[in-house]
Amino acid sequence: MNIAALASAFLLLLAVGHQYANAFAVNPRGFGNSASGGVGSKSKKRLVDEGVVEKIKEVNVSPSVSPVMAAYALSARGAEMQQQGRLNGAVSAFTEALALHPTADRRFLLAMALEENGEPHKAVAMYDWACQSHDAGADAILRHDAAIKLADLCANDLGDVERAIRYVDAAMAEDGYAHSTFSNAAAFDQKAFYLAEQGNLGEAILLWDAAIEGTEEGELVTHNNMGEEAVSRAVARSHLGRFFRAVANILLGHDQEAKAAFATLPVECQYMVDSWNYIATAHYPQEQRVLQSVQPVRQNGRRKVGRLFTGPFTILEEALASARPNGLVCEFGVFHGKSIRILASMVGRDIVDGFDTFEGIPEAWGDDPAGTYTAAAEIPPVPDNVRFHVGLFSDTLPGYVASLEPPEDLPVRLINVDCDLYQGTVEILYHLANRIGPGCVICFDEYLMTPTWPEDEYKAFQEACAKFKWEYEYLSFSLFSKQVVVRITASESFVG
Ligand SMILES: C[S@@+](CC[C@H](N)C(=O)[O-])C[C@H]1O[C@@H](n2cnc3c(N)ncnc32)[C@H](O)[C@@H]1O
Repeated sequence: MNIAALASAFLLLLAVGHQYANAFAVNPRGFGNSASGGVGSKSKKRLVDEGVVEKIKEVNVSPSVSPVMAAYALSARGAEMQQQGRLNGAVSAFTEALALHPTADRRFLLAMALEENGEPHKAVAMYDWACQSHDAGADAILRHDAAIKLADLCANDLGDVERAIRYVDAAMAEDGYAHSTFSNAAAFDQKAFYLAEQGNLGEAILLWDAAIEGTEEGELVTHNNMGEEAVSRAVARSHLGRFFRAVANILLGHDQEAKAAFATLPVECQYMVDSWNYIATAHYPQEQRVLQSVQPVRQNGRRKVGRLFTGPFTILEEALASARPNGLVCEFGVFHGKSIRILASMVGRDIVDGFDTFEGIPEAWGDDPAGTYTAAAEIPPVPDNVRFHVGLFSDTLPGYVASLEPPEDLPVRLINVDCDLYQGTVEILYHLANRIGPGCVICFDEYLMTPTWPEDEYKAFQEACAKFKWEYEYLSFSLFSKQVVVRITASESFVG
C-alpha cells in the first residue's frame, strides 16, 4: 500500500468535496448547471476533475491497512464511482468509509452522492449531521456549504421553503461569514429566491442587490485566485441576479426600473428576457394573461407571483393536482431517478412508467455532447410502483402503447418530459397523441430559460398542438426551474 498515494488522494478528495461545495455555493437553485447556461432545477453535470480521478484510481484497499487508511481509500473509490455515474456503488463506498472513520468531510461526500442519487431525505439527514459537526474535517466553510445545500434540497426537492430559509440563515450566521458580502453572495441569492417564492418581492429585491454587490466583489477576488470557471460562474450569477431582480420589479409595478435593468444585460442573456416576454403575454387559465393575473397579487394574494420562482417539487405537486384524476403517469428522462421518486410518492399506489436508456442524451444539446447525463446504464432504486422501459423512446414507446390493456388502457393523466431534446419530445407526443385528451397535464422540464428554448421542448409542443389540433392552457411557469406545465383542454387526436 502506497501511503503517500493514499494521503495525496485524500487531499485531492477533500479538494473535490469543496469543489462540489463551492460549485453549488455559487449555484443557488441550480444556477448555471444547465449545459446551455440557463438556470436549472438540478445538478446534472459531473463536476469532478478528470485529473483528480486518474490519481485516486491508483489507490487500493487492502486488509492490512489501518481503518483510517482504508477509509481514505474507500472515499477515493466512492469519488471515482460517482464520477463514472455509478452512484449506488459510490453511496456504498462512502457509507463504508464513514463507518470506518467518521469525519464531517465524509458526511458531506456521502450527502452529495445521496443527493445526486435522488435520495433527498437521506441527503438532508447527512448534510444536517455534517452541518452540526465540530469533529475532524469540520470547519465553518464546510458547515456553511452544508447549510446552503440543505436549503437547496428543502426548497427544491422537498417543497419546504420555510425550512430552507432557516438553513440559509444558519449558513449566513457561520463564523467567518457573518459580515462578508462576498462570502454570503450565494446565500443572499438563495434567500432572495425563497422570499420571492413566498411572494415577498420587496425583501427579495434587497437581497438580490446585496448578492449582486457581493458577486461583483467576488469577481475581483476570483479573477486573482480561482481561475476562469469560477469567474464565469460569478459573472453568470450576477446576470441572473439582475434578471430576477428586474422581474420582481415588474411584478411590483416598477416597469421603468425593470426595463433599464434588462437593457444592461449582455446579448447572451437575451434568452432570459425573451422567456420572460413570452410568459408575460401567455395565457393562464380563463384567458387571463400572466401579468393581468398577478395584478391583485401586488396587494395581497402572493401565491401566483410566488409560483414564478418555485422549485420542481411544488411544480410537480401542482401538475398532478391539476390533472384528470386517473390515467397514465409517465416520465421521459429518469437519469438517477430524482423526479420519478417524487412522482411515485405523490400518486399513492398508482403506477409511474419511466422511460430512459440510462445512457445519457442520444444527441448533443447546447454545449452538452451526446451521452451527457448518463447513469452508466445503472437502473436507480425506486419504489415498487415505478415500472421502467429501458431503451430509446422510439424503441420502447410503440410496444408500451400496444401493451396497455384494461385496467391500464387509459388516457394520459400526466407526462413529465425531461429529455431536454426536441426530437425526443416529438417522439413522446406523437406516440401518445391518441391518449392525450382534455385533462391531460404535461410538465416540461426545459421549456424556457435556456439559450435554445425556442428550438427544443417548446417547438415540439407547439408543432404537436398544430398537428393534433390540441387546445391548452398554461398552469405554471417557473423562471427558476425552467419548468412549464400545460393542461390540454381539447384534442382531435384523442380516441377516448
Ligand atoms: C436530464 S436527464 C433526466 C433527469 C431526471 N428527470 C432527474 O430527475 O434527475 C435526461 C435523461 O433523458 C434520457 N434521454 C434523453 N433522450 C432520450 C431518448 N430519446 N430515449 C431514452 N432516454 C432518453 C437520458 O438518458 C437522461 O437520463
